[in-house]
Amino acid sequence: MAENNKNAMAGSAPAKPKPAAPVAAKPAAPGTAKPAAPGAAKPAASTGGVYKPPVERAASNPYKDSRVSDLGAWFQERFYVVLPVIDYLKKKEVPKHRLSFWYYFGGLTLFFFIIQILTGLLLLQYYKPTEAEAFTSFVFIQQEVPFGWLLRQMHAWSANAMVMMAFIHMFSTFFMKSYRKPRELMWVSGFVLLVLSLGFGFTGYLLPWNELAFFATQVGTEVPKVAPGGAFLVTLLRGGEEVSGETLTRMFSLHVVLLPGLLMLVLSAHLLLVQVLGTSAPIGYKESGMIKGYEKFFPTFLAKDAIGWLIGFALLVYLAVVSPWEIGVKADALASAPLGIKPEWYFWAQFQLLKDFTFPNGELVAIILFTVGAILWILVPFIDTKSSKEEKSPIFTIIGLLVLAFLLINTYRVYLESAAL
Ligand code: HEM
Repeated sequence: MAENNKNAMAGSAPAKPKPAAPVAAKPAAPGTAKPAAPGAAKPAASTGGVYKPPVERAASNPYKDSRVSDLGAWFQERFYVVLPVIDYLKKKEVPKHRLSFWYYFGGLTLFFFIIQILTGLLLLQYYKPTEAEAFTSFVFIQQEVPFGWLLRQMHAWSANAMVMMAFIHMFSTFFMKSYRKPRELMWVSGFVLLVLSLGFGFTGYLLPWNELAFFATQVGTEVPKVAPGGAFLVTLLRGGEEVSGETLTRMFSLHVVLLPGLLMLVLSAHLLLVQVLGTSAPIGYKESGMIKGYEKFFPTFLAKDAIGWLIGFALLVYLAVVSPWEIGVKADALASAPLGIKPEWYFWAQFQLLKDFTFPNGELVAIILFTVGAILWILVPFIDTKSSKEEKSPIFTIIGLLVLAFLLINTYRVYLESAAL
């Protein structure tokens, strides 16, 4: 309006020149001021203790005069604060060396998580989380819904793939000591992501409401009972004394609301740290010239990531077709438990430990061992001070190998036992 008025005035009678003000009292409006002439009073000087800000200031939004017709410029004008971030990401590089292969597993874990969200959302359109309808809705999805069988199979296979990739990713970052300073929080947030992923597996297992899932959940939710305060936790998980429709409601809400929300929150922090701190190289690689070069994250590394994702996708479809998961029979609380009840494979190592500790209070000792082990594992970046000083820490490599061996051997023992049944 002010601009229009000024123009209107300019078109009419010539304006009378105003007498110059004796002292330039008012500072010019930002953006309109001309640079001060040499010898003019210093703008930021304080007189009598009063601070006066400089007259000339950088425009807060350098894109504010961009053309609206150009879509890119239109967005630039509004989201100009993220432009330095985009510039930063364009420059991001990943080191190339003989262990570079292991960098793809974080991306693969992320890919299978995205598949879980997409297939899960579609399954939700037909799944009914009640004791009476859960099983039949699964049968309906498998047999009646167009491509429902594919969705359900991909969801089940991708869940296993995600946990498997997260384990491989964790051990590869462990052995490369990627957790060392300043990436400690990448490790901590990553471990929380693994626990949440295991939570997805545990809560999702009961959803088909079949016999196997029912009894496995009964065994699984029983575990905390031996620990102090554990009975309360069992009741909280089950929504009562026994596994029932209440348990199904709880598992369902955890599986589709709480866990995805928490996982996305922690995942955002994990990925933000990945972008801000960049990718590490194993200790000593830089100094001994083992880095063969660097490649751009966008688009080179991402394009290679995408090849892994395509292979992962093809594998999921292949497994869904040639090796479908069974639905089994509907859960019946009054029926006797079938032989060889066991949890999902990623809990087998703990499960075997519980079975091995048959001495009095053995289960409690196993739980304590596992809890202490998990706490120490999450604190590794802070305990391994050598690697944070860029020094080799073979002790931690040995610890990692022992943990890996324990998990693999115990998992294999459960596998052997169930194969013999
Ligand atoms: C849902 C699970 C997870 C997702 C989606 C995920 C995703 C990613 C991605 C995309 C990267 C960058 C690429 C790479 O280095 O592989 C990364 C890096 C990293 N992640 Fe994870 N991650 C997960 C779980 C974990 C776990 C369980 C740990 C360890 C306890 C972990 C620790 C790390 C570390 C230390 C790095 C930095 C690697 C480096 O700079 O060399 N992450 N993660």
